Amino acid sequence: MSSLFRDDLLAGKVALVTGGGSGIGAQVARELASLGAKVVIAARKLERLERAAAALSEELGTTVYAKSLDIRDRDRVQACVSEIIAELGPIDILVNNGGGQFLAPAETISPNGWDAVIATNLTGTWSLTQAVAKACMLKHGGRVINITMLTGRGFPGMAHSVAARSGVEAMTRTLAVEWAQRGVRINCIAPGLVASSGLRTYPAALGILERMPAMVPVKRLARREEIAWLVAYLASPAGDYVTGQTWTVDGGHDLWAEKWPIPDPKDLGPAVPEVDSWE
Ligand SMILES: NC(=O)c1ccc[n+]([C@@H]2O[C@H](COP(=O)([O-])OP(=O)(O)OC[C@H]3O[C@@H](n4cnc5c(N)ncnc54)[C@H](OP(=O)(O)O)[C@@H]3O)[C@@H](O)[C@H]2O)c1
Repeated sequence: MSSLFRDDLLAGKVALVTGGGSGIGAQVARELASLGAKVVIAARKLERLERAAAALSEELGTTVYAKSLDIRDRDRVQACVSEIIAELGPIDILVNNGGGQFLAPAETISPNGWDAVIATNLTGTWSLTQAVAKACMLKHGGRVINITMLTGRGFPGMAHSVAARSGVEAMTRTLAVEWAQRGVRINCIAPGLVASSGLRTYPAALGILERMPAMVPVKRLARREEIAWLVAYLASPAGDYVTGQTWTVDGGHDLWAEKWPIPDPKDLGPAVPEVDSWE
């Protein structure tokens, strides 16, 4: 049951959430399924996905489906969309949450590293969005919600990812206009620091857990629910007149503080330790 919205808000809708086997995506899947949507979670690590789908299914008393998908593989993107439509019907809600990056001073980013981050976060998001739009949403309408990152002031240490996410935001504004009359609404959510599994990839020396909350005006990291609730709002009838926007959910972080120290490779030690409740 959602702690915020009416239980049948998304009844009968089919939702695809990439990266739904962990972190923010798993919470988005939980929220949409608890509102009555038929939810498919998709990512590369099938075993983890199946575990997450089984746990959510048991918790919510419904079926959450798992699909193996690398959004960088265009053929698999097409096949996965076709499978979902054949098994569950047209996709009404697409949440492009799957993605990631590694922290690196710009001069250390290799050609392969750059290409991998762009292929995942920009091209992968585009391929899946276009595939779902052509197969379903341009005929039946739908909602696309892209999870990006804070881009407005750049993002030191993440030149590759901020370039990709800025591309997704510009693509979102463009598709919002091109597809408005086809019933498609498309928006981005740009989280600040969320207490979620994605933070494990960053060096503990950045002090994300100890130092960063004090730099956010609301004095804490975001909870995963605070992203998932906005996804649900945008996917619901309340979101019908909202399109082409980037919704910043960062507790005022981007308005006030430095994001984090400009990384110097010699200062970067081991990653942030695992926190069980983030899964
Ligand atoms: N946590 C934060 O503070 C924060 C802030 C801003 C933005 N974000 C963004 O929000 C999203 C979710 O973050 P999170 O914290 O939940 O981190 P996470 O647990 O690392 O989530 C990333 C998810 O994306 C999936 N993924 C990665 N590459 C993929 C690919 N090529 N194809 C399909 N799926 C792929 C991963 O699953 P597989 O490895 O199994 O594929 C994983 O489930 C990410 O895009 C992240 O960059 C997070």
